[in-house]
Amino acid sequence: MTKTPPIDRDVPMTGDAGVDGRIRIQGEDEGGGDYEVEYDTVRTPVLVVGAGAAGARVAIELAESGLEPLVIGKRDHGDAHTTWAAGGINAALGSLDEDDWTRHAADTLAEGHLLNDPEAVELTAKHMPDRIRELADWGTPFDRTEDGTINQRYFGAQSSRRTCFVGDRTGEAMLETLIGRARELDIPYRDNVMVTRLLSDGDRVDGAVGFDMETGRGLLFRTNHVVLAAGGFSALYHRHSSRADENNGDGQALALEAGARLVDLEFVQFHPTGMVGDRYGEEWDGRLVTEAVRGEGGRLFNADVSAGEGSEERGVSLGDRFMERYSPDQMELDARDVVARAIAQEVREGRGTERGGVYLDISHRDPEYIRERLPTMVERFGDLGVDITAEPMEVAPTAHYTMGGVDIDFRTGETGVDGLYAVGETVAGVHGANRLGGNSLAETVAIGTLVGAHVANAVTSQDRVPTVTGTQQALAERELRALDDLAAADGTVRPAELLAELGDLLWTTAGILRDEESLREGLAGVAEIRSRTADLRVDGDRTSRSFEYAVDLSFSLTVAETMLRTALERTESRGAHYRSDYPETDSDWQVTLVLSADERGVTIRRRGIADPSSAVREALEAGHELDYHHLE
Ligand code: FUM
Repeated sequence: MTKTPPIDRDVPMTGDAGVDGRIRIQGEDEGGGDYEVEYDTVRTPVLVVGAGAAGARVAIELAESGLEPLVIGKRDHGDAHTTWAAGGINAALGSLDEDDWTRHAADTLAEGHLLNDPEAVELTAKHMPDRIRELADWGTPFDRTEDGTINQRYFGAQSSRRTCFVGDRTGEAMLETLIGRARELDIPYRDNVMVTRLLSDGDRVDGAVGFDMETGRGLLFRTNHVVLAAGGFSALYHRHSSRADENNGDGQALALEAGARLVDLEFVQFHPTGMVGDRYGEEWDGRLVTEAVRGEGGRLFNADVSAGEGSEERGVSLGDRFMERYSPDQMELDARDVVARAIAQEVREGRGTERGGVYLDISHRDPEYIRERLPTMVERFGDLGVDITAEPMEVAPTAHYTMGGVDIDFRTGETGVDGLYAVGETVAGVHGANRLGGNSLAETVAIGTLVGAHVANAVTSQDRVPTVTGTQQALAERELRALDDLAAADGTVRPAELLAELGDLLWTTAGILRDEESLREGLAGVAEIRSRTADLRVDGDRTSRSFEYAVDLSFSLTVAETMLRTALERTESRGAHYRSDYPETDSDWQVTLVLSADERGVTIRRRGIADPSSAVREALEAGHELDYHHLE
């Protein structure tokens, strides 16, 4: 058996290369034989890593400023994680209820337990009405009221109907619109590309290295501006709402390695209603049952018929409508962390279904209304033999979104490393300790537009045709050689096995409830998994899933470890971070945890949070709150 490479992939190499086009490197491997590294060099004024809504919106702004950015994505065109954001997008349009941007900002801050970056929140809330009108102009078929106004629905923890929607496929519809606009502007996309390293000296990024997942060919992207729009890291958890093999923390790990800071990693959102795999099949385990079901009146019941005033629905005996005990005013539409913890507690205390869930029922509403407002849910459950217009769904919490991520300046997207910007779920700041449903899609377009405009201004005439230096080539070639070695790893442990173990580990040690003991167990587990990467086995070349998982594993271990460390550090409970050994919120902890890494290791420090503007403080003090009973 040959020795497998270390997971940090820093393998020294020598070689000789030209500058552009197809390059063949020849040198000697450890055994004295020749080796070759081939790659293509691609030059672009701006490289956008990530082809979801945030990346698309940045690229549109760049193109409208006369630039030709390159957008790269890991999957086929249009097949981004955005398509899984279902229920809606927030904007204070006030179509149905009294609303304005200060209320939107206040709800966002309250839900974020005042850990949000107030400037980020205000920028998002202020810009959203224009962004919605723009999307509508570009063709997003938002649901309309009878008089033609954009319709809005209730969503969790919002004081009024503020969530614009396209049935229950809002993200998909919005991405179709953005891609359509990108096509009109002739923005080049390159699909099935994975970036494995940014070319950085710690202060400045001037390119990226990766490979074409279809051909396996190495790629050197030469550019002075890289925008990371690569999603979050909720899929590190065994049970998650992401599509398979996405949201593994690529963006956060690439940024950290390049010298950027990460913040608020301990805040992972568990959405209350994911599908229960034991009931609907493993491939559906954790997949989202949109909050729109509750926004349209869906009710949660436990399975404890002895306590319940529930009813019999198609042979299913519903128990107690338990949110009455946890949140009598906001009920099922209280904040996601509150509802998710309530479900977890019902299940833990034996009042859940035998498969570990509870029931979500909307069958009291008119079947036509359900079909119109929730067509995807009706179809998906229908395919599984469940008619949600007449019977309940079985649901349980699922890892859904990561509030933490790269530390940026929200007016510019700058990360503190020259030439490196970030946007969307890759970053932290808008959502604080917990995200308001409907704000993830909002952030992508509100902040994506600002970042695109800033980067467009930052591009100089030289940046339009970036040159490739010998140092960049050497770094790229070293990385590509390391990837070859990784592909050749012929130990005994498969990356998919280790990723699955990591998912189970995080679910049990850093899930909805955590404490010092579990978090320390999590850290020890990550170290143990990391040690086994020395015996990795990759089945196939760079085009194989196994190789993709090996690269994912490297990112995932980095992000898991940093997340566990900050979760251990924050000795309080706030929003989505619930420490059973510190169950109270502690005002001393109204700070952000900033994590950075250098050759000496990882440093975590506390940073204070600015005050919101007086207009938003007033809205906060007014204490606007949804009364769920409006829906009844
Ligand atoms: O439940 C949902 O439709 C999720 C929306 C969101 O996370 O914003």
